[in-house]
Amino acid sequence: MATAAHSPALGVDIGGTGIKGAVVDTETGELTSDRIKLPTPPGGEPDGIVATVVEIVEQLGAGLSADAPVGVCFPAVVKHGRTMSAANVSDRWIGLEAETLFEKALGRDIQFVNDADAAGYAEVRYGAAKDRGGLIMLTTLGTGIGTALIYNGVLVPNTELGHLELRGKDAELRAAYSAKERRNLSWRAWAKQLQRYYATLERLFSPDLFIVGGGVSKNYEEFFPLLELNTEIVPAALRNNAGILGAAALAVPGDPVEPPAPIAPPASIAPMT
Ligand code: BGC
Repeated sequence: MATAAHSPALGVDIGGTGIKGAVVDTETGELTSDRIKLPTPPGGEPDGIVATVVEIVEQLGAGLSADAPVGVCFPAVVKHGRTMSAANVSDRWIGLEAETLFEKALGRDIQFVNDADAAGYAEVRYGAAKDRGGLIMLTTLGTGIGTALIYNGVLVPNTELGHLELRGKDAELRAAYSAKERRNLSWRAWAKQLQRYYATLERLFSPDLFIVGGGVSKNYEEFFPLLELNTEIVPAALRNNAGILGAAALAVPGDPVEPPAPIAPPASIAPMT
């Protein structure tokens, strides 16, 4: 692993209700500062979110060098620094040069990535899939469904498999945790939707491991036993910190999402030089 990976990095996770940040030791995956959480400004407009991120980075950056890597993750497709969609934030993000916007406001470079991609990458580096190679698929079951696909430690960004069509509808409308709440579904009724969803993913991708994230993953014992899959399925290990950890790790030189470059593989895979 590049020596740069030993330096502390800052991770920020932007969500529809809160924006969280912390300093991360990207070698161990531990938070080395308190976690700061501020509410997402109402409406999730660009100006308000950018100002909140600046506030968090300023608070956290106090003891860090000015060139400490900063990673920011966001609930949208992120293509070459532009936000191409917007989940639970203002539609004004769609098509915005978001990375540049943050960089100008912060006065420093950042790595800007999709939130599920950050969480998935963190689970592979430090969490539920640590030391595992193969094809790992993270799904976060929350308001929507976020997905991350990681093969031997390399992230394939922006998979957006929460929007697969499931019996004529966007899958996240049927299988996200919000669908359970909205329709007041029992665990069993919701698990039927999950069964269809995960069986579809399994058929299309033949992953080696599913990791289930999102707040509801702490109740995994309620619905995992109701699923009949050929693929191993485990709850996420990093809970609320996955986005912060992944954004920080991806910001460290040697771990970029794009352009393609060697990414440290799990320990079970021979290290690249
Ligand atoms: C969005 C994804 C995001 C996920 C979780 C989905 O609705 O399309 O980009 O990762 O929600 O926030």
